[in-house]
Amino acid sequence: MVFAYVYELLCKTSWTDYLRSPLGSFMSSPSKVSEGEEPEGTLFAACTARRSVFPRSYVKRDVPRAVVDRLLSAAMYAPYHGPKPPWRFVVLGRQAMVDMQRLTLSFYDENWRDLGKHSTEYEYQRWRSKTEEEITGRWGPVSYMIAIVVKRQAGSKRVPMWEEICATACAVQNMHLQASRHPGLACYWSSWHAAARDSEDMAEYLGMGSEDQCLGFFIVAACDPTFNPRRCRYPEVHLDTDWRVDGPKS
Ligand SMILES: Cc1cc2nc3c(=O)[nH]c(=O)nc-3n(C[C@H](O)[C@H](O)[C@H](O)COP(=O)(O)O)c2cc1C
Repeated sequence: MVFAYVYELLCKTSWTDYLRSPLGSFMSSPSKVSEGEEPEGTLFAACTARRSVFPRSYVKRDVPRAVVDRLLSAAMYAPYHGPKPPWRFVVLGRQAMVDMQRLTLSFYDENWRDLGKHSTEYEYQRWRSKTEEEITGRWGPVSYMIAIVVKRQAGSKRVPMWEEICATACAVQNMHLQASRHPGLACYWSSWHAAARDSEDMAEYLGMGSEDQCLGFFIVAACDPTFNPRRCRYPEVHLDTDWRVDGPKS
């Protein structure tokens, strides 16, 4: 359909008409910027502004529900392969977050001996009391934890799981990019406590199907106004590319 639209525009309309069209105004830059530069507010600016903000920089202020709606709307526009998007988000408010953390603790209470994470009861109890304190401490100021679930499609023609995981990660990235446009919002993707996250208890709590997978939680909180983002990216460290192109490199 997009191709048909582009074809029609290119064949049947003049360039003036094309540039006035929604596609043309999207493709052409309205401001005077030279090649390779971008005006403020572009997608690249959103990518560089996106950052993970961790609990030490949260303050106890409620994030409006409308903001979360906006993040979820952005998630909707992620790409996916197959007939249906695989992402499913379970938005946990304050009480639900406490319930989920209590479930996490109960799961470890029952299973810690088999999990190999703690070698003695003393060690386990120390971890447990620290984790319990986090319910009101570390996680206390958080407004929402959004469970990130990959809803596995059914049928013999379904796409591979890795594609559904990737599509879901794209949806999370859209949320995170959108989050960076809301001043005062602090978000990050937490893998959560792995064994509890992957447990049947969690699957039941989140209403997951037997083949679904939880990828952790997208944490949504209000940001400390004094937070100083110090994130940098360097091509030597953060970019691994191999250009196999003809002609001189420019
Ligand atoms: C799939 C995934 C899982 C993550 N899980 C955790 C986590 O459990 N704990 C944590 O502190 N950060 C977690 N992060 C966030 C990373 O620490 C963060 O993205 C990284 O430090 C880079 O910072 P930036 O997001 O600001 O670019 C996770 C990120 C991704 C993509």
